[in-house]
Amino acid sequence: MQLRSVFQLLAANTTVSGADLAVRLGITRTAVWKQIEQLRAMGVVIHAQAGSGYRLEHPIEFLESDRILAELSPVDRGRLKNLHLHWQIDSTNSELLRRANQEKSDLAACFTEIQTSGRGRHGRTWQMPLGSGLTFSLLKRFDVGMSGLGGLSLAAGVSVVRALNDCGVGNVKLKWPNDVIVDSCKLAGILIELGGDALGPCYAVIGIGLNIHLPRKQVTIDQSWTDLATLARGMPPSRNQLAGRLLTRLIEVLDIFAVQGFSTLAEDYAHFDALRGQLIQVSVQGVERRGIAQGVDAHGALLVRDSAQLFTVDSGEAKLCRSVK
Ligand code: BTN
Repeated sequence: MQLRSVFQLLAANTTVSGADLAVRLGITRTAVWKQIEQLRAMGVVIHAQAGSGYRLEHPIEFLESDRILAELSPVDRGRLKNLHLHWQIDSTNSELLRRANQEKSDLAACFTEIQTSGRGRHGRTWQMPLGSGLTFSLLKRFDVGMSGLGGLSLAAGVSVVRALNDCGVGNVKLKWPNDVIVDSCKLAGILIELGGDALGPCYAVIGIGLNIHLPRKQVTIDQSWTDLATLARGMPPSRNQLAGRLLTRLIEVLDIFAVQGFSTLAEDYAHFDALRGQLIQVSVQGVERRGIAQGVDAHGALLVRDSAQLFTVDSGEAKLCRSVK
């Protein structure tokens, strides 16, 4: 809790002295220094200026449930009774999967400032330095069975693009199945996990990690990435506003999906499709294949044409080829 208090005081002030922090928190200056070092180890860039004190490299807006909920329509606010906001948790997806059997409501959301075991697709880890992005998940129930949720990850991607557009971020595209990119650089990732019956009541947990202001030195991501601070020339949108718009757009798209499936959203997806017409490489049952991406079918499977045929890819990853061999 001390760590959180130090971080909150730094976030709320331009510069705070060690002595001031110690008085406000009722701890020694040595304890303050230890907390500062711990925050730095977690990726927070804190400058120390002799004679004046500590200063965050860039301002950070803390997440607040009331401010997030204020962004929602009264109807959505009424539906989203379960909005959990944590300081630290293992993974927001894991938390909502655990809660899925306890809370029977149609919707639940979970946000956190720190994820200690964040998960990415294909068993990868997902790490985000404290305060540098948005990490949250939304649980939504469906009655079509898990087998009827084809294309859900693409639908979720569409909602993220709409939310970013609402916040003034343009030129956002989707790389099948659901990387959110700008100029070929990853801005956000989506992890969808399902539970329930194959043909009856089921649920999806949609987890989103969005880069807002990543500290360049600390980040070791194995692909080109970008963040909202770079795209907005140092002035990213408010985190609470973004959180609210993402929830609003997700709920809107998931409601459509629950009734009509992916087909109604396919036109939107096509508009944001970063792969269509490009030479790509996909992994199909362990075999690497190349071809020209042709968009997606009504269930969200990727369509690819090589010299011999048109084939579909239901799951996996695709990457753009830089050269033709
Ligand atoms: C990917 O691109 O590999 C998907 C990354 C998804 C990360 C988010 S962060 C919130 C939610 N909780 C998790 O553990 N993972 C997702």
